[in-house]
Amino acid sequence: MNRRNFLRGTAATLVTAPSIARSAFVAGNDTLKIGLIGCGGRGTGAALQALAADEGTVIWSMADVFMDRLDSSLKGLEENGGEGRVNVPPERRFDGFDGFKKVVDECDVVLLATTPAFRPQHLRYAIEKNRHVFCEKPVAVDGPGLRSVLETARMAQEKGLCLAHGFCWRAHYGKRAIYEEINSGRLGDVQLAYATYLAGGVWHRGNKEEWSDMERHLRNWYYHTYLSGDHLVEQAVHSVDKILWAFGDKTPLNAVAVGGRQQRTAKKYGDIWDHFSVVYEFADGAQGHLLTRQWDGTAMENLDRILGTQGVANLDGWAGKFEIAGSKPWKYEGSGNNMYQTEHDELFAAIRAGNAHNQGEAMVRSTQAAILGRMSAYTGKRVTWDDCLNSEEQLTPATWEWAERPAPKPPVPGKS
Ligand SMILES: NC(=O)c1ccc[n+]([C@@H]2O[C@H](COP(=O)([O-])OP(=O)(O)OC[C@H]3O[C@@H](n4cnc5c(N)ncnc54)[C@H](O)[C@@H]3O)[C@@H](O)[C@H]2O)c1
Repeated sequence: MNRRNFLRGTAATLVTAPSIARSAFVAGNDTLKIGLIGCGGRGTGAALQALAADEGTVIWSMADVFMDRLDSSLKGLEENGGEGRVNVPPERRFDGFDGFKKVVDECDVVLLATTPAFRPQHLRYAIEKNRHVFCEKPVAVDGPGLRSVLETARMAQEKGLCLAHGFCWRAHYGKRAIYEEINSGRLGDVQLAYATYLAGGVWHRGNKEEWSDMERHLRNWYYHTYLSGDHLVEQAVHSVDKILWAFGDKTPLNAVAVGGRQQRTAKKYGDIWDHFSVVYEFADGAQGHLLTRQWDGTAMENLDRILGTQGVANLDGWAGKFEIAGSKPWKYEGSGNNMYQTEHDELFAAIRAGNAHNQGEAMVRSTQAAILGRMSAYTGKRVTWDDCLNSEEQLTPATWEWAERPAPKPPVPGKS
């Protein structure tokens, strides 16, 4: 196996013969070319973290559907990336809907940080081309997308490729420690996990007369369910992920949910909702409950409370407090960390060591739980885990083009 092929991760052999893979690489001596797809806030941050994680990385190729977004990301990377670490000449900058392919073709490790709707397509191409991948959450917006990513994740596993996700709380030291306690039985049997994601409104990037519908939607992708998955799937998915974590990543049987549009009623806010309440029901009668909203001028909160037969855990991620009360009290007293950096440190360490670090199935599971909640809220029905995964409802268009595309209307429970 030559070194370039190993770093590109060609080989299923890596799984069975990690010692060969390791010996093929001399730490720090080889360059890993990073390709960034989706040059917004998170993509730019992820690129800087990839640089900080490994001294042999270089930002090599970039794509964004809009060149102005790429230009401002590149400027930020050049200013903050360090001497010689950002090498993206005009011929390795790509825009439009096909730019992602050229980025993948040019690099060793791909960072996927676009609007969520594109994740299944971009991930498939990257894994087909044998690239290691960092894949932001959520990884799909509908059932067909979930099934595609699941298949791709298994493909990555078979090839021995690294596939890391962006469920960043999983890389947070305090959260890791407390969920380990919970999963090892310190609370007894977990009966209820209650999570809040109460925040204010987010950005809106305006509107220009000359924009096509597709450009208008993509510039403001957050407000269109076919692009973002809605705020439950796009943002509160972090809290959904923690509900599953509390139950040792068991999957719920079904979800029952409500929600609607209270503040974001104007046309510019597309079809997404601004509040949801979801109850997840598990086989043993346990429940997970998510309460999420994005309303300006209201109280902010991001808490997790987990009740077991022998105690209660209180987690306040924003304040860094992780405590268990009950028959076996416990408190996190370890160090804090930058969870975004840790995700990349672990990914690049695995690539260098030839370990197949694959979080593919986990990222599908948590994304699916969020989509399940949205499906129940939109329809007003109890929706099962399997019906969500097997759903044939495809939100994304068959082909992406700069065309007129009327925005879908907000869903109406009982009718949608
Ligand atoms: N893990 C976290 O805590 C965290 C935090 C922020 C964002 N994110 C995730 O990162 C992703 C991006 O979020 P963001 O805040 O950076 O948004 P953003 O709007 O700042 O960036 C997204 C970029 O992707 C580009 N894009 C859209 N479609 C594309 C395509 N087909 N090809 C290439 N580029 C395309 C957009 O033009 C935009 O520049 C989302 O999935 C979001 O959920 C995760």
